[in-house]
Order: sequence, then C-alpha cells, then structure tokens
Amino acid sequence: MGEDALPWWQDAVFYQIYVRSFADSDGDGVGDLEGIRSRLGYLELLGVDALWLTPFFRSPMADHGYDVADPRDVDPLFGDLAAFDALVADAHGHGLKVTIDLVPNHTSDQHLWFQQALRSAPGSRERARYYFRDGKGPDGSVPPNNWTSVFGGPAWTRVPDGQWYLHLFAPQQPDLNWDDSEVRADLVQTLRFWLDRGVDGFRIDVAHGMAKPADLPDMDPGAMAIMAGTQSHEVVDPRFDNDGVHDIHRLIRKVLDGYPGTMAVGEIWVDRDDRFSYYVRPDELHLGFNFKLVEADFDADSVRRAIDRSLTAVKATGAAPTWTLSNHDVVRHVTRYGGGDIGTRRARAMALVELALPGVTYIYNGEELGLPNVDLPDWALQDPVWERSGHTERGRDGCRVPLPWEGEIPSFGFSRAGAAWLPMPPHWASLTVEAQLEDPDSMLSLYRHALEIRKTSAAFGGDDLEWYGAPPGCFAFRRKGGGLICALNTSAAPVPLPPGEILLASGPMEGNQLPPETSVWLV
Ligand code: GLC
Repeated sequence: MGEDALPWWQDAVFYQIYVRSFADSDGDGVGDLEGIRSRLGYLELLGVDALWLTPFFRSPMADHGYDVADPRDVDPLFGDLAAFDALVADAHGHGLKVTIDLVPNHTSDQHLWFQQALRSAPGSRERARYYFRDGKGPDGSVPPNNWTSVFGGPAWTRVPDGQWYLHLFAPQQPDLNWDDSEVRADLVQTLRFWLDRGVDGFRIDVAHGMAKPADLPDMDPGAMAIMAGTQSHEVVDPRFDNDGVHDIHRLIRKVLDGYPGTMAVGEIWVDRDDRFSYYVRPDELHLGFNFKLVEADFDADSVRRAIDRSLTAVKATGAAPTWTLSNHDVVRHVTRYGGGDIGTRRARAMALVELALPGVTYIYNGEELGLPNVDLPDWALQDPVWERSGHTERGRDGCRVPLPWEGEIPSFGFSRAGAAWLPMPPHWASLTVEAQLEDPDSMLSLYRHALEIRKTSAAFGGDDLEWYGAPPGCFAFRRKGGGLICALNTSAAPVPLPPGEILLASGPMEGNQLPPETSVWLV
C-alpha cells in the first residue's frame, strides 16, 4: 500500500475550534459558525488538514454546549443548520475536513427525555433512559453511592419525589443509561444525521464514560481527579473505563464503516496503556486522544516517556498515535511551561517535537499564536467548575479566552460589537494574527513553516522512530521511514547538534550547538 492509500486521518493535523471563542460574526460576543466560515482562509494558510468543532448543538449552555438538549440541531447562539451546511461546503472547498463533537455520556437536563423523566414516576420507562435510583438511609436522603462529580460535589442530585439521578459532570448533565436500546438507537440517528450532511468524523466526548457497573459500587475517594477518570494501576475508578463501553464504540464504528472516509477519535482519560489500547482496536474507534504530552513536564525524560508510552499503547492495534499539547479543558502549555518568554520558548520547542512525531496532531485554537492562559477576575468566571468546587477551583475559562485577530484593542477583531464573552487582555495586541503574520520570528510563522515542511518533506514518512543517545536533559529521535531527526534540549546548557542539515529550529541557533529550551529538525 503506497503512502497515498493511507486514510487521510492517519497523519493529519487537526485544528480544534472552541466555537465560542474562535470568531464572532453577529456581534453578540460569542463565536459562531459564520465566524468560522469567515476565517477558513486563515486555516488554509496555517496549513492544517482538518477541523474539530466543539459542540454547537441546541443547549442551555450550562457547560458551554457539552450539555446537549437536541443533538440534531444547531443552537441559535451559533447559527442554524443552513450555516452549518455552508460551513462544511466551504471548508471542503478549502481542502479542510470537518469533524464535530458527539456527547454521548449525558444530555442536558433540558433534553426532552430528561424533562419527561422528571414528570414520570420512579420505575417508569421514561426514567430508565437515565440513572434514577432511590437513596440510602431510612428516608432515602443519602445518595445511592459516594460518587463525586468530575466538576466537584456529589454526582447525584435529588428530585422532588425523593429519587436521585446520576451526573458525572454538572447536575444539568444527567448521565444516559447505555443499557437502554432507545439511547443506542438515538445515537445512531445522530451519527447518520451529521454524516448525511457531509461531516468527515466525530470526536467522542468522555469516550471512557457511558458504561457503568451494574451495581454502581462506591468509588475509592482517592480516585478523584479534576478532568480525568484517571485509571492507574493502583486505583480503579468505577465511574469510568468499564468494559461495557467497548460495545458502544463498536456500534459507532459500524455506522461509520457505512460512510467510507469518515473517522472517530475518542477522548480517553485512561492512564493504563493496555486499557487505553482497547479503545482503538480495529472494530472500535479509529483514534484515541491520549493526554500524555499534556501531563508531561518540559523535561526531556518526561517527554520521552510520554512519547514512548503513547506509541506503545497503540502499537498492538495498528492505530495511529495522537498528540496534544493543549485543549479547552487544560491550562495552555505556554503557561504550563512557565509562562512569559520562557514558557513561549519552551512551547516553540515542543511544537516542533509534537509535529515531528508520527501520527496525528491536534492543535488547539490559539496555540499557533502562542496564547497563554489568562488569569481572569472572579466576576468573569463561567465554568461550572468554579461554582461546583465552592470557588476553590477556577476552572477552564482561562484557556478559552477568544482569539485575537487584529487591531490594538480588545476584542481584537474577534467580535464586531467589541466585548467578547470573556475579557481579553489588552496586551494581546502583540499576539494578534495580524501582528504575527508577516513576522518571521512569530509563533504563527513557526507553525506555518513547520506545517508546510511536514506536508511536503519525505523525511516525515514512516510510523516508527528510534532514539539516539543524548546528553542529560536532551533527546533526539529519528523517524525510521523518512529519516527526519528531531532533537530537544531541556537542559540549562547548549549541547552539540546531531549531524545533519537543519530544516527548522524553534529558536536562534548557536553555531553547531543546540541552545537550552530549543528543538531542531534535521535531515
Ligand atoms: C469533556 C469535555 C469537557 C466537558 C466534559 C463534559 O471532558 O472535553 O469540556 O466539560 O466532557 O461533557
């Protein structure tokens, strides 16, 4: 099979659009589908292959769209179905694939099914689509088990007739019961609805959720994690990664197989590599997000371990590995790496490491501009995590601040009206697309250059790599097929470069030395 015969996603660069924050066309301060359509030229210029749009479905927005009231319609905040169709057509015209979020673990509490369940009696058909249970204790006032919500607080909320319902996330996101045949049939209908409109694939939200153990056993409170159902060898978390989930992924795969050229990637917060690999078996999801690079420090050993584990986890299944440095749920990596000039320098170095790796890369909107996380004032915080944690966790708004496009003052061209849904720092004037586009030393230029080389150079061939010996705090690997060499220096001193001709460096070079916090591509 020649390179051309590989499915398009095997080495694609995806660009994640957090729809609220990308571009606002109608001046309400919130990004929308028309806004995305108006910026497709930028995405083509950047050089990405595919888009992932976060949820734009009908929603009361308790979790900014991850609480879906109707999965087969567009929320008026973001546009309508005609705007979606126009976006898909134009994106395809720009050579961009379009993938969208699918949120199968839960619905909104405003979903028709949940409203019917609330109006129906305990034990009714309507309640069986969710997890309604009686409480414990003489008056049933103790929740059915000790599960906590990922957003903080108990995972159960009591309804007026005394029963409790399960929500692994906010109370406005009741968990669906995946043993119910109607729940499954509805998912198939949703998949087909969007596939028939021309989407190229799906990102499956909480793909390690959905299935629950029949007896809903108590969890070990030590398993608590903010964004993760982190399964380590030591702590088994009964809320996540139950074996029953794989049947659901097989169901999804079966539908996609009827639409050649389409794919699904799962959000899989599962730490154990063996258990992670089950999700990407040949009859399940095409790809799995792993968050090993997100969790790794800027340290050569830590990054190398993350790379090795990611490669090992998919090797047995034949799936391509995926790489992510940031997304809408985690602190932006410029800030994770120390912020300021240091954070930016390290982010540049890691961008080249990530884009040198075999497999699939996901870029989170704004990382190509080097955006840092924003310290927002209390009054601006909107993430349910802030309220649910009793104001102890600030939540994820800091990585969701809208993108700066042009001009000198907020909202920097994001919104025609001026104010964006989250305040944008005035000093982002130097980070706008406009400010970076012609500057050869900007983060944007680095990404554009890297993506162009990645697309056109034969050095990126092959799906395996080998490690070289390297000084402490450094690593170097070589793509076995094409021969690209990538070296990273996370130590405090310059080190000798591996032999080869430099294709691209993340920062200024010092003769034959690789400076600290710098990476380089060589052939
Ligand atoms: C996923 C999403 C996150 C959302 C949660 C609940 O983890 O990435 O943003 O809050 O699911 O749907």
